[in-house]
Amino acid sequence: MLGARRSVPRLRAIKRQDYSSAGRRFVDIHTHLIPSGDDGVQTIGAAVDFCREASRRGTAILYATPHVNRELPLSPEREARVRAAHAAIAEQLDGEIDYRLGFELFPTEELLTEDPRRYQLDQLEAILVECPLPHQGAPGLATAIALAEHIESASLLPVLAHPERTETVLAEPRIALDLAERGWLLQITATSLLGVHGRDVERTAWRLLDAPTAVVASDGHRSDRPPFLDVAYAAVAAELGHERADALFRGETLLPPPTVEPGSRSA
Ligand SMILES: [Fe+2]
Repeated sequence: MLGARRSVPRLRAIKRQDYSSAGRRFVDIHTHLIPSGDDGVQTIGAAVDFCREASRRGTAILYATPHVNRELPLSPEREARVRAAHAAIAEQLDGEIDYRLGFELFPTEELLTEDPRRYQLDQLEAILVECPLPHQGAPGLATAIALAEHIESASLLPVLAHPERTETVLAEPRIALDLAERGWLLQITATSLLGVHGRDVERTAWRLLDAPTAVVASDGHRSDRPPFLDVAYAAVAAELGHERADALFRGETLLPPPTVEPGSRSA
């Protein structure tokens, strides 16, 4: 056990009506569908095209979450470019999909001394924290956990991106489930569930779906890693049923509990 369960703030900003219209269901809180200098799409046109296709495939709310790391910090100049690109893409989409902005933070010591609020996911009291991948040369989750605690201390909720792809969790999935016990969200990547990143990652991804705070997102980058959720949804629905699949893909963990009007309950 890595830490005691804590109470974390409930997220308030996604309303049920935002995504519940027929055929448009998914909330994708992790994509690189914005030209930002990272390895995601490189043009506004490509971002618009992918967003339109994601909408056709059932995504209602999509977050563009550019990488923030030592090589690509969020300088004022980069932030201005990213925000301008976001505005231009949203204008072209014209409401076809709810296109929002956030960031994906690679855990570094520098971020531990910064106010995390500037990296917040638009309209959510949450921040996306990248769990290091094997090629990033940062084994272990110690800095990611420290950053998540830093985020929590600012009354925000950490969302751990693709824990199933990080070496520590691959070796011992219970570590991620213990972090979920703190109320932290586990963002499982759709392509992990489909076996794209290998059998070990696939097995671990399915195991982490047990966490009540699990949420599935695409981490879509470009044509070889597209931002679509429909195929993974079908796989999860076939295995776990539509009710659980809906909870995982429609952002149930991002939602406040349903309110019960006084007197509306039957005896
Ligand atoms: Fe990512």
